[in-house]
Amino acid sequence: MTILDGKKLSNKIKQEVKVQVESLQQKNITPGLAVVLVGNDPASAAYVKMKEKACEDVGIYSIVHKMPNSISQEKILEIINMMNQNPNIDGILVQLPLPSQIDTTAILEAIDPKKDVDGFHPYNVGRVVSGLDGYIPATPLGVMELLKEYDIDPQGKDVCVVGASNIVGKPMATLMLNANATVTTCHIYTKDLKSHTLKADIICVGVGKIDLITEDMVKEGAIVVDIGINRTDDGKLTGDVSFDTVSSKCSYITPVPGGVGPMTIACLLQNTVKSANNREIKKV
Ligand code: GUN
Repeated sequence: MTILDGKKLSNKIKQEVKVQVESLQQKNITPGLAVVLVGNDPASAAYVKMKEKACEDVGIYSIVHKMPNSISQEKILEIINMMNQNPNIDGILVQLPLPSQIDTTAILEAIDPKKDVDGFHPYNVGRVVSGLDGYIPATPLGVMELLKEYDIDPQGKDVCVVGASNIVGKPMATLMLNANATVTTCHIYTKDLKSHTLKADIICVGVGKIDLITEDMVKEGAIVVDIGINRTDDGKLTGDVSFDTVSSKCSYITPVPGGVGPMTIACLLQNTVKSANNREIKKV
């Protein structure tokens, strides 16, 4: 069994991003990322802190707009419009989830698709589904990069994606399909999850449920990608896969922490630099 080391690859990507930032700075361009953080959900605040720190590590300018839980939709739209117009901002990211009074779709649609480094705007979703260049959501992109690093080609493989969220499961399934895999997407209404996971050469799971994937659900030699992030009762980070038992059965597996998580951050930085590289084109 081989560990898919996301921490190691993310550091390599961050180094590459840093070099690209330095070369942009030669042209007097400092890539900029604006983050909108609404409310005081500790997990969201922690993710945003990690994103800020990663930006700082590679020389990307970042600004976080923190807003109270009671904020109105109009106020958030105002900030987004301001960031859309700001020539020093290349990427705009609204940390999800948003409070219930806010229409998330309306917020995501207000972001200029050219600054949509999270890849959640329907324009980018459509482009990626169509196999065109566009911003790919950082988490599934990170998974694909991690597999590539270990020479794992999904082409012709049976892939089971567990979870069908807009930010993880759906784009994950799309990228796997674009990579010529045969894809099954399972979700909360799936009748017999095990019957699907057992057939899979690659399992990608991201639903936020501790021990959802157990040893008996995994084929011998399968590749297991754990996109889940959960906290145990004693405060430890853990994924959706029973790592200790499943790892003895599979050929490759991602740990949590140190697997997909750091890759998400690295790919967000990549997307931000990609946008900064387009600054000239954007002006047209
Ligand atoms: N909430 C959970 N994951 C993400 C993410 O990748 N981006 C944003 N904006 N919000 C999230």
